[in-house]
Amino acid sequence: MLEPDLTDESLGARLVGATADEVERAAEAALRPKRLDDFVGQRVVRDQLSLVLQAAVARGNAPDHVLLSGPPGLGKTTLAMIIAAEIGSALRITSGPAIQHAGDLAAVLSSLEEGEVLFIDEIHRLARPAEELLYSAMEDFRVDVVVGKGAGASAIPLALPPFTIVGATTRAGLLPAPLRDRFGFTGRLDFYDAADLERVILRSAGLLGVELHHAAAHEIAGRSRGTPRIANRLLRRVRDWAQVRGDGRLDLRAARAALEVYEVDPIGLDRLDRAVLTALCTRFGGGPVGLTTLAVTVGEEPETVETVAEPYLVREGLVGRTPRGRVATPAAWAHLGLTPPPAPGVPGVPAGTLFDDGPA
Ligand SMILES: Nc1ncnc2c1ncn2[C@@H]1O[C@H](COP(=O)(O)OP(=O)(O)O)[C@@H](O)[C@H]1O
Ligand SMILES: [Mg+2]
Repeated sequence: MLEPDLTDESLGARLVGATADEVERAAEAALRPKRLDDFVGQRVVRDQLSLVLQAAVARGNAPDHVLLSGPPGLGKTTLAMIIAAEIGSALRITSGPAIQHAGDLAAVLSSLEEGEVLFIDEIHRLARPAEELLYSAMEDFRVDVVVGKGAGASAIPLALPPFTIVGATTRAGLLPAPLRDRFGFTGRLDFYDAADLERVILRSAGLLGVELHHAAAHEIAGRSRGTPRIANRLLRRVRDWAQVRGDGRLDLRAARAALEVYEVDPIGLDRLDRAVLTALCTRFGGGPVGLTTLAVTVGEEPETVETVAEPYLVREGLVGRTPRGRVATPAAWAHLGLTPPPAPGVPGVPAGTLFDDGPA
């Protein structure tokens, strides 16, 4: 039986996690496409965005505000930088959580120069007052600066030069409608298919100055969960392996061996994912089992299982969420090389009743 011992530390460094820490962001900067033409995949968004930008440039205007939504690691920040580069403007970067008060945002906005691009990452996390200030700034290029305090306070409208806001969010659903409506264009980024990921990986290998075999790129792509950030990270680990344990060549053997060392399986599951899946199948007969019970079995917090492991397992059709708990699909059994038990309704205990700890 698998007894995972995943500390917070090991989760923080999770090889197939889609978020990046400081160190990784530095490594990523070198791999970021600088222009729209270098941005791999996402054909629809790229096409639409290119029209918006070219038309604005031709008219000599600041383009409409742009909202980019989609899961982490798919290229939102990269696209924000590309937008500024394509229109030849300076880019200012801030984020929802970095803006504590409306006044902070007013200060940033009033310092913008004509045509500049302000990138607000995680825009769904803006505090309410800042968000309201943004409405008039986006719509009328105006902020109301409050002077004085208490009863004597008054708001002085301050006109701003035209600029473009680029907002990024992993949770478009959390954006209030009035804010969403003020974006003239919304680009929704989707997970990349294997062919596009292969192109991302080959491009990155070129930038890193390493020669990557096609079969290796294919192998890494298949384990990257549709996410360029993960693809680039796995590529770096394969490069390490080739350098230290291999003969320097980034071939299929190196890719497979490296990813085995890092316990990233052929469809991109890591140790925690596999532990959850294995527990679900071998300890609970495929479920349904409640989240809490499942989490205790793999020695994790329910929240970790739910937010770290489950989304990808569900997305891949390996796990289902039902009102009575989590269930393994036939694909899960097949992936683990196990035979599912006979269909439920077999004499004896009804499936799932023993371990069900409530609705999912
Ligand atoms: N379409 C793409 N083509 C090439 N590389 C990409 C693409 N999208 C993302 N990347 C790479 O993936 C990494 C993460 O992208 P990023 O823009 O930071 O994602 P997000 O902001 O959506 O979390 C970057 O290093 C970037 O180089
Ligand atoms: Mg980002």
